[in-house]
Amino acid sequence: MQNQRGHAHVLVVTYPAQGHINPLLQFAKRLTSKGVKTTVATTPYTIDSVNVDTAIAVEPISDGFDEGGFNQAPTLEAYLDSFKTAGSKTLAELIIKLNNSGTPVCCVVYDSLLSWALGVAKGFGIPAAIMLTNSATVCSFYWQIDRGGLTLPVEQETLAAPMVPGLPSLDIADLPSFLAQPTNQSAYLALILDKLGTLDENDWVFCNSFDDLESALVEALAAEWPVVTIGPMVPSFYLDRRIEGDTSYGASLWNHGNDQCLKWLDSKPLKSVVYVSFGSMACISTDQFQEVAWGLKASNMPFLWVAKEFKDHRLLELVDSIGETGLIVTWCNQLEVLAHQAVGCFVTHCGWNSTLEGLSLGVPMVGVPQWSDQPTNAKFIADVWKVGVRAKRDGGIVTREELGKCLTEVMSGERSGEIKSNASRWRELAKEAVSAGGSSDKNIEEFIAKLPNPQV
Ligand code: UDX
Repeated sequence: MQNQRGHAHVLVVTYPAQGHINPLLQFAKRLTSKGVKTTVATTPYTIDSVNVDTAIAVEPISDGFDEGGFNQAPTLEAYLDSFKTAGSKTLAELIIKLNNSGTPVCCVVYDSLLSWALGVAKGFGIPAAIMLTNSATVCSFYWQIDRGGLTLPVEQETLAAPMVPGLPSLDIADLPSFLAQPTNQSAYLALILDKLGTLDENDWVFCNSFDDLESALVEALAAEWPVVTIGPMVPSFYLDRRIEGDTSYGASLWNHGNDQCLKWLDSKPLKSVVYVSFGSMACISTDQFQEVAWGLKASNMPFLWVAKEFKDHRLLELVDSIGETGLIVTWCNQLEVLAHQAVGCFVTHCGWNSTLEGLSLGVPMVGVPQWSDQPTNAKFIADVWKVGVRAKRDGGIVTREELGKCLTEVMSGERSGEIKSNASRWRELAKEAVSAGGSSDKNIEEFIAKLPNPQV
């Protein structure tokens, strides 16, 4: 069937982790809303969790662990290797199937963790676009390593001058953890550097960010790669409301009991609640869990805490003793919670999606970064966009006293007014970027205009 944009058919290839699948699904919905036929590929293990627009076909590609996904793999390295082998084969088979179905694939958009998808697309002579799910700033750090501008482990002296125009000078603690402690998680670092090596072979490099957020940097990077900003990739219901029914990302890899959360939030006063979440991948230590628990209790502020680890028997007693000011759940619909009028502050691990969601919904933040890109995002929250504060660590953890201090600073302290007004300003800028004619919207339109239009 011919769509409004001729025969353009984009295949969006996702990585099955919550923080990765969300922005890619959102991108697929943006394309569909603009009349582009879009197919999403995901693994058999996650396919039933994906529930997007009926106009978007969802097709399986294999990571080699079709029954249990990532959890079945002995190591991260084994998982990534298996995904590369099984994924390359099944992605090629899917492209052949779609090409035979009447509307050939004219572009493959793939998650940055799946750099092998570039070779598959090129093998068919199809243009390819990589989706960077980190900030442009974080990508620029990795790029400096790739280009030899930074060597590992990074020394403090190297950071004295801004590394890229527009960046503040940084401390080691502000760098992504893979650079600050390169021996930990080296499989992730290897994967990241691998993709950077081929970045300029892509026809487009999409960054889930927007021009106002990292302007000088995006300009500097555009001189190196075909990079464009297309974010924030947050469902349009929370921003410009242009896609009918677009009220969630369309995939929940965990079950949530949101009714319970929303009912509980309904009973709380305006902007009184502290929402706490450390994202989908990081699990905090038992010591850190206890400090967060006691810090929240001591604050006397109502709190909603997403704690995947709270069913751990060692923590149950503690959870019981922190009383009734809080609600603890294992997962929720974060967007619905952040958008609720009772929420006044977001204690976050500063994953890039959570950071963009906090900014887009204008919720002041307390950054408690754990690993990966999160320390850098926390630095920007506190010192560049000034929409929150970053909690300091003592002996490797954020103490209950420090958490309490940060909560007071954001909710009612001297700088609270300034933080809240910055948060509202960034919300407006995020909305502008994705609204018709905004910088990210224009970039998506230009991408669509350049898509080859194969004749069928
Ligand atoms: C990690 C990295 O930190 C991130 O920067 C990278 O790009 C992807 O991998 P993650 O730990 O999953 O991400 O955090 P984040 O990027 O914030 O993504 C989590 C997603 O899960 C968010 O979109 C959030 O809305 C959603 N979420 C989280 C829920 O829907 N419910 C929850 O209870 C918690």
